[in-house]
Amino acid sequence: MIPILDLNQQYAALRDEIHGAIQGVLDSTQFVLGPAVKELEGRVAAYCECRYGVGVASGTDALRLSLAALEVGPGDEVITTPFTFIATGNTISHSGAKPVFVDVELRTYNLDPAAVEAAITPRTKAIVPVHLYGQAAEMDAIMDVAERHRLLVIEDCAQAIGARYKGKRLGSIGHVGCLSFFPSKNLGAYGDAGMVVTNNSVLAEKIDVLRRQGGQKKYYHEVLGFNSRLDTLQAAILNVKLNYLEQWNEGRRTVAHRYNDLLSGLPAVTPYESPDGYHVYHQYTIRSPQRDNLSAYLKKQGVATMIYYPVPLHRQPLYAEMAASHFPNAELAAQEVLSLPIFPELTERDQEFIADSIRGFFDGR
Ligand SMILES: Cc1ncc(COP(=O)(O)O)c(C=O)c1O
Repeated sequence: MIPILDLNQQYAALRDEIHGAIQGVLDSTQFVLGPAVKELEGRVAAYCECRYGVGVASGTDALRLSLAALEVGPGDEVITTPFTFIATGNTISHSGAKPVFVDVELRTYNLDPAAVEAAITPRTKAIVPVHLYGQAAEMDAIMDVAERHRLLVIEDCAQAIGARYKGKRLGSIGHVGCLSFFPSKNLGAYGDAGMVVTNNSVLAEKIDVLRRQGGQKKYYHEVLGFNSRLDTLQAAILNVKLNYLEQWNEGRRTVAHRYNDLLSGLPAVTPYESPDGYHVYHQYTIRSPQRDNLSAYLKKQGVATMIYYPVPLHRQPLYAEMAASHFPNAELAAQEVLSLPIFPELTERDQEFIADSIRGFFDGR
């Protein structure tokens, strides 16, 4: 079976370096907020062209703590996309604010800025654009709407570390950027981990306090906080892996562009790559009305695929009160998208086999 993601090859190549980093933390016994965390925060912030990085327990917590630091809460509305991972929506709900979903553009699967503007009410406090599959949302238009209506912008960069929009790194454009280091991400830990990046020192400090039980000094608590620190062991592993991120993102782009060539002429929509950005292809996602049959056919041929995401958030049982709302592009995408295997080590031979299998499906072989 050709897997959708193979982490074994990456681990095999970095085994000694990673074991050395883990051993260093074990020897130091500084398991919580040890020096590796600070080092990673500085390096990831610089990589994202931001002044500050605050390591937290997951990408979900990066969103949750950002919303808390920006004082988003009951009575507020937060506009976001329904075509995303559940954490984008449920963190808004956890804050006490109401998630307001608006439709996406079918070409990029990212927020439609015109739909964002149309959904603004006096209660709107923030916008959460998601850079889905590793490609930037239309940040100029989104920031323009935000500035005109004095709204906060929280970039969900969980899938897009290293991606750019008009030369700028994602995460550096809005008020905060939220990163996930979930193992399958372009920069993946060996467990849960995340980070908030920002250029705002006050926000960075607030998030630092929030992640450690709401107090700067041990056992003194100024605000209602959380226990959400990035684990030192994970930070040490990520410090090793960060050295390879640029090379891996380039590798993903090579794989994606090769797929574009191999799949050209087939009746499936290949990913649109905006000339305004640098797409890091967390996923390579095609679209076809025959998605379910294609996926089953590929499975029989020995090719794994995934559907990100089969149910848009407004159609989730969690958001049953929104079931009547209608976002045609998000709904169509949920019915038709199919993500193919992508990772930097994917061989040309395997890609040719995958493309040949897809051709076989459409040829009725
Ligand atoms: C778009 C998006 N937002 C948020 C998250 C949450 O990140 P995590 O799994 O690290 O909590 C993820 C990843 O899983 C994601 O893909």
